[in-house]
Amino acid sequence: MLSDHLRKGLLIVFEGTDGTGKSTQLKLLYSALKSKNYPVITTREPTDGKYGREIRRLYKNRKRYSDEEELELFLADRKEHVDALLTPALNRGKIILCDRYFLSTAAYQGAIGFNPETVLARNSFAPNPDLALLFHAPVDVGLTRIISGRGEAPNDFEKAENLQKVAAIFATIDRPYIRRIDASGSIDSVYQLVMEHVMPLFSNSSFSTLDLK
Ligand code: TYD
Repeated sequence: MLSDHLRKGLLIVFEGTDGTGKSTQLKLLYSALKSKNYPVITTREPTDGKYGREIRRLYKNRKRYSDEEELELFLADRKEHVDALLTPALNRGKIILCDRYFLSTAAYQGAIGFNPETVLARNSFAPNPDLALLFHAPVDVGLTRIISGRGEAPNDFEKAENLQKVAAIFATIDRPYIRRIDASGSIDSVYQLVMEHVMPLFSNSSFSTLDLK
């Protein structure tokens, strides 16, 4: 595997509590980059692979697994994602937009009792992102968006008390590639904030300076 500074592509991850609109912002950035012919791809965690599918079953009944087994499932899913998609795509020079990555494991599995730094250390096999956009909004704003936007009841990961804990851990994690985004505004105003962080990344990379006018 190429070390982080030698790889040709870019890894931009979208992180935050549920209902902060990160997936909407990911799609907007994808469309903007695609329309300018950048070699952009999107992906997500949990993935659609065998571990990711098992994790989706877990949403409905979180008690099926022990806490350690739950953490191991997320790590196994990520390992497969890194080996099968992320590392090869970075080496081929792709710009990857990834919906959730290891900061989610630190925050969500941290909320059930794991030490977030220990969780991050167990992710050392995974390449660091070039940029992690960490979306935050009051938890009740997120829950309202989940219920009204998706027309669904919150799943086991999305209960308010759990999300408060998750948000508190996200707020404490400090890494040089993290940029925090206040996601309580309109879709357009949040997108402006996203672009303020994405633009400098392009001017410091082998990609041409981003011009999305
Ligand atoms: P989410 O992005 O909401 O997926 P979907 O849109 O398919 O429902 O992620 C699903 C849940 O998984 C979310 O509540 C956070 C949780 N999660 C973890 O607990 N740990 C992790 O490592 C990841 C990637 C997600």
